Amino acid sequence: MALADFDALVVGGGAAGLMCAIAAGQRGLRVCVVEHANRVGKKILMSGGGRCNFTNTGTTPANYLSANPHFCKSALARYTPWHFIEMVERHRIAFHEKELGQLFCDESSKLIVRMLLDECEAAGVRVETSCSIESVEHADDGRFALKTSHGRLRAPALVVASGGLSIPSMGASGFGYDLARRFGHSVLPLRAGLVPLTLSGKHQDHMAELSGVALPVTARCNGQAFTHTMLVTHRGISGPAILQISSYWQPGDDLRLDLLPGEDALDWLRRHQAERPATELKTVLTEAMPKRFAQRLCDIWLPGDRAHRPMRQFTPAQLQAMARVLSDFPLVASGTEGYRTAEVTLGGVDTGELSSRTMESRLIPGLYFIGEVVDVTGWLGGYNFQWAWASGQAAGTAL
Ligand code: FDA
Repeated sequence: MALADFDALVVGGGAAGLMCAIAAGQRGLRVCVVEHANRVGKKILMSGGGRCNFTNTGTTPANYLSANPHFCKSALARYTPWHFIEMVERHRIAFHEKELGQLFCDESSKLIVRMLLDECEAAGVRVETSCSIESVEHADDGRFALKTSHGRLRAPALVVASGGLSIPSMGASGFGYDLARRFGHSVLPLRAGLVPLTLSGKHQDHMAELSGVALPVTARCNGQAFTHTMLVTHRGISGPAILQISSYWQPGDDLRLDLLPGEDALDWLRRHQAERPATELKTVLTEAMPKRFAQRLCDIWLPGDRAHRPMRQFTPAQLQAMARVLSDFPLVASGTEGYRTAEVTLGGVDTGELSSRTMESRLIPGLYFIGEVVDVTGWLGGYNFQWAWASGQAAGTAL
């Protein structure tokens, strides 16, 4: 089969790969994106409930998990949310801030994919979809050769932008991790992140009837805390607060919930005792959280007839014990829903073996890793796309 020569081959037509290809193409490089799915940007399409939370204006390195928290700094500093917003505005895509700096398309994620493809076209980037890679060779002259279902491709630079393992039905594969290992790179342990947690045994029984109930909580684990909504599902718990903390949790870790976020639980109980001494505890709780949740909390975690006692009957010690249940509620999760529903994959190609400025391998010149395949994982809220854009741009301008 004929051999097509390029300056750079990009494996993966997702957020990072397209961004890298655009930046390199704009510099006059001949770039080919190899995507095995039948269309590019499938995760962009499904993101943000179809409206793509494409960045977060408050992005800082502190919003990322990585064995080396400094690694992401250079790329994030050189390609900021405002650079991406400039592109979005240039393409006249309407957007809005939902909350906490999270920017979403007004209409559809399709517009972001369209924008990236238009930019690819303008930059002369070739995009091959439904193109599977059969082998990767690294010749003595330093060039990389891909044998693909669309023919043989060759270039002095190979950019791995094949993403993580989450949502296999959308084209996710372990290709990038396997390739990294083959070229001598370390891959730090992989696990599902931004993922619902599962409960089992009595912990599941306690929550089972509450499926569908949502309430604000502060979820705390391993020194991190997130205040947002928790949603009880039929398998366990989800919602933004839980997805966020799931990235910091591993089986066996202590996970606590503050069920009265923003309040000091003991002060709150004392205040209600002073102001409404004749009101039952259950009624007081119902005003702070959904009725079904308050009821269950009373039935299981506040034993005896306490829930029906008027506030005036509680001793200071009993109020303290109740405050502990409300502010430091132990949640015993059994696991996560795994890659089937996870938004991201934690871990990945060890950043210690990559240049933080260019994303190039320190082991194999001409080999680059960008996006989710790298051990950099963002919080929920547009941070993961911002990393994809920034790391893609870093490689695309360095190739
Ligand atoms: P990405 O997964 O986007 O792209 C990798 C590409 O490589 C895919 O197109 C894949 O098909 C291709 N590929 C894989 N193996 C290959 C092979 N062997 N050969 C050729 N191609 C191959 N983030 C955010 O910031 N805001 C949000 O709103 C959301 N929402 C969201 C919702 C859902 C349901 C999920 C699963 C994820 C999100 N995310 C998100 C996370 C975000 O989608 C993710 O972090 C980025 O897409 C990562 O970009 P990459 O380009 O690294 O991988």
